[in-house]
Amino acid sequence: MSGTIELAPGMMLWPGRLDADAQRQLLRDVLERVAQAPFYRPTMPRTGTPFSVEMTNFGPFGWVSDRNGYRYQKHHPVTDAQWPAMPELLLNLWGETTAYRAPPEACLVNLYRSDARMGLHQDMDEDAPDAPVLSVSLGDNALYRFGGTTKRGGPTKSVKLESGDVLMFGGPARFIYHGVDRIQAGSSTLVPGGGRINLTLRRVTAA
Ligand code: SIN
Ligand code: MN
Repeated sequence: MSGTIELAPGMMLWPGRLDADAQRQLLRDVLERVAQAPFYRPTMPRTGTPFSVEMTNFGPFGWVSDRNGYRYQKHHPVTDAQWPAMPELLLNLWGETTAYRAPPEACLVNLYRSDARMGLHQDMDEDAPDAPVLSVSLGDNALYRFGGTTKRGGPTKSVKLESGDVLMFGGPARFIYHGVDRIQAGSSTLVPGGGRINLTLRRVTAA
C-alpha cells in the first residue's frame, strides 16, 4: 500500500492497495466464478450495438444492458442462473475502505481485451446515492478519464489505473462522469489471454 490520493473531492485512489499475492488470489476467485457465470457481451439500449467490453456479475444483483435498457437483475442473462457470491476479499475491502453501514449488493465484472474501452458515463442505476462506488483493477493498465458531475462536455482529467489499484467515488463525486479511454495491452501478464479486469462494487437498494 502506498498512501491515498484524492483525485477530486470524494474521489480517492489507493495505488497498489492489493499486493501481487492479493491480486493473484482475487484473480483466482474471479476465474472460479466466471466458470459458473461466463463473460458475455452486452448490447446498448435501443440500438443493440455490442459493447467492446465483456461482462459478468457477482452478488445478489447484477448490472445488465440490452435493447430494453440498463437495469439490475438477479440472474445471468445467458445462463439464467443466479450470480455467484461475491469474493470474501472484496467484501472485506468494501468494509475497510468505504465504512458504509451495509454490504455491497452488486459486483460488476468488466473484461477489457486490448481494443476495449468504455465511454464517459455516470453510475446512476442504484437506489443508494449515499453509498460510494468501489472499483478494483486487475491486469493491464487503463487510461481512465473522469470529471464533472453535471454535464458530459465539461473538463476532464485522466489517470493511469494499474493492477491492484483501488478507486472509490462517493459523496460529491458519487455521480462523477468516468470512462476508460484505452487499455495498455501487454502492460501486465496477470490476466490469462491478456487484458484488464475491473470489478465495480455497488450498493443497489437503500440500506
Ligand atoms: C465502469 O465504470 O463500469 C468501469 C470502469 C473501469 O473499468 O475502470
Ligand atoms: Mn461506471
